[in-house]
Amino acid sequence: MKKIICMCGIVAVTGYKKALPLLINGLEKLEYRGYDSAGIAVINPDTKNIICNKAEGKLTNLLNNISNKHIHGTVGIGHTRWATHGKPEVKNAHPHIDSSGKVAVVQNGIIENYQELKDKLEKEGIRFNSDTDTEVIPHLIQKELLALNKLNLEKNGSTLLVALRNVISDLEGSYALAVLWADAPDSLVVARKQAPLIIGLGEGEFICASDTPAIANFTKIILPLEDEEIALLTPLGIEIYDSNNERQYRNPIHLHVSEQVIDKKDYKHYMLKEIYDQPDTAKYWIEKFLFKDSKTGQYQIDYPFDTEFFESIERIEIVACGTSKHAAMVGSFLLEQFSGIPTNVFYASEFRYSPPPLLPNTLTIGVTQSGETADTIAAINMEIKRRSSMSDEKYKPNLVAITNRMESSIGRQISNIIDIGAGVEIGVAATKTFFAQLLSFYGLAIKFAQIKGTQNNEIINQLISELTKLPPLIEELLEKHNKTSEKLAHDFFNIKDVIFLGRGINYPIALEGALKLKEISYIHAAGYPAGEMKHGPIALLDKKVPVISIATPGVVFDKVISNAQEAKARDSYLIGIAPECKGTEIFDYLMMIPETNEWISPLLAIVPLQLLSYHIAAHRGLDVDQPRNLAKSVTVE
Ligand code: M6R
Repeated sequence: MKKIICMCGIVAVTGYKKALPLLINGLEKLEYRGYDSAGIAVINPDTKNIICNKAEGKLTNLLNNISNKHIHGTVGIGHTRWATHGKPEVKNAHPHIDSSGKVAVVQNGIIENYQELKDKLEKEGIRFNSDTDTEVIPHLIQKELLALNKLNLEKNGSTLLVALRNVISDLEGSYALAVLWADAPDSLVVARKQAPLIIGLGEGEFICASDTPAIANFTKIILPLEDEEIALLTPLGIEIYDSNNERQYRNPIHLHVSEQVIDKKDYKHYMLKEIYDQPDTAKYWIEKFLFKDSKTGQYQIDYPFDTEFFESIERIEIVACGTSKHAAMVGSFLLEQFSGIPTNVFYASEFRYSPPPLLPNTLTIGVTQSGETADTIAAINMEIKRRSSMSDEKYKPNLVAITNRMESSIGRQISNIIDIGAGVEIGVAATKTFFAQLLSFYGLAIKFAQIKGTQNNEIINQLISELTKLPPLIEELLEKHNKTSEKLAHDFFNIKDVIFLGRGINYPIALEGALKLKEISYIHAAGYPAGEMKHGPIALLDKKVPVISIATPGVVFDKVISNAQEAKARDSYLIGIAPECKGTEIFDYLMMIPETNEWISPLLAIVPLQLLSYHIAAHRGLDVDQPRNLAKSVTVE
């Protein structure tokens, strides 16, 4: 089947205020979710027509389109799109409108059976204007509305709700939807299935969006829609129904403070600001999760699960994608080597289709900063399902999620949550959330080592003491390397390939360094375990291919230095992420990090790598915060 995949951000408003500024403000905050095209539709209160405007490319193009137009309705929907299939053209931009021009729809997600539905509609004489999956929805709704009209149902929001409910029963896939109907001009109907949708409650008005930043300027009180719920919103109130058509009543929740702050300060890009947030990320973790037991004087980790939970665990499986997977790999190293628990890390997208055989007393950890990554959520759900069906208690699911977004799908679904508390991250390239995920794993590793007795108190205290020193250390690294990496970027911004090497606990840092560089600078970069070079990748090396090697004193230091020598012998320019010590004089350029306990070296080594990637991309004049083809949360498989 030809798939059109769209992640996107949606926003929808009803109330007494002009809809357009609220829609635009919301879309600006959601642009990180996709920026291939943008569009809005508002009901004109005088003519009861839908006014729709769309533009290819970034939101600014849409703003230029509508700058001279008077769009003054109070009910509207908006969309910012990310597509991997089908050109990002105006015709594919949302909102999509039915042939009568009365129904407008924005969607986030994918309708998997759209082709079948489209074929059927086309046979009935409906003409399609786009290549998207979404366009079937307004046509299907209009068809339902005509059928309901024959039953003499009133033209109001309740009828639109019935029509949408009937339509979604035919849809396969995942979606968050917002729908307008010109004949019910103060109503908005929204629905979700496996894609996020949050309702913000104002006074006599409501704003729905894919994510909280789009709501934060408007209200601090929110009501996240649960999976497979559908809701009717008018200025008079909200009605929410579950998939059995039962009316739902529940209390709203307050937005987490960190969900509200999106401020670039004086930084040129969010990414740089977020790299600079990392000392605060470390402070947050230390203050929130580390405490000293007054009786023993011993530091403890304050994670919200009881000791028995940790005691029963014999092995760990971690599912994650992208940068979160790299954090999980460092976590796995710590959990095995420090805490002695056998641990495996899986790409969530692979785990879903080739899960390992079930083993007893297993902890499954899902790591996702956004809490919305479709593959990670699906992998966790699959694990819940297959383990829940086992009769033996030992096989039952034990779950922990590590996320930055407590209001997200994963945050609401799983009760054992580690909130990494990094604050909203806008740059598509994850930086401070990676750092915060790493810290969460240090906490888990310490907790397991204490409970299982795999390390003595002295070693545990030493590690904790090193962790408490992180904030000033990271500040120093930022101070030192912002300028050095800018200079290096000047020399290297035109390179074509870069190799990143690391071993042991720093192998995942080599992978993360390479991912950071390629995703924002579009320079090919690959990370390898340094010892693997001679088994193939070394063939790539010559003077045009610089090698960045993470060499921190510890078990494999001498080996990493030897591997770097091998690269130097092939004329590669060698950049070292290492302390100034015996052995590191081999590097042509040293991005110095302090000599510390090897366990915490990943937390230091990542900082110069983030800065270097940032400056190379900035020097190339690229859109650092919104790199091409990417989006912040990948809500489709
Ligand atoms: O929200 P998640 O942590 O689940 O996101 C996973 C990946 O999509 C994400 O880390 C992606 O690789 C970033 N662009 C990396 O910078």
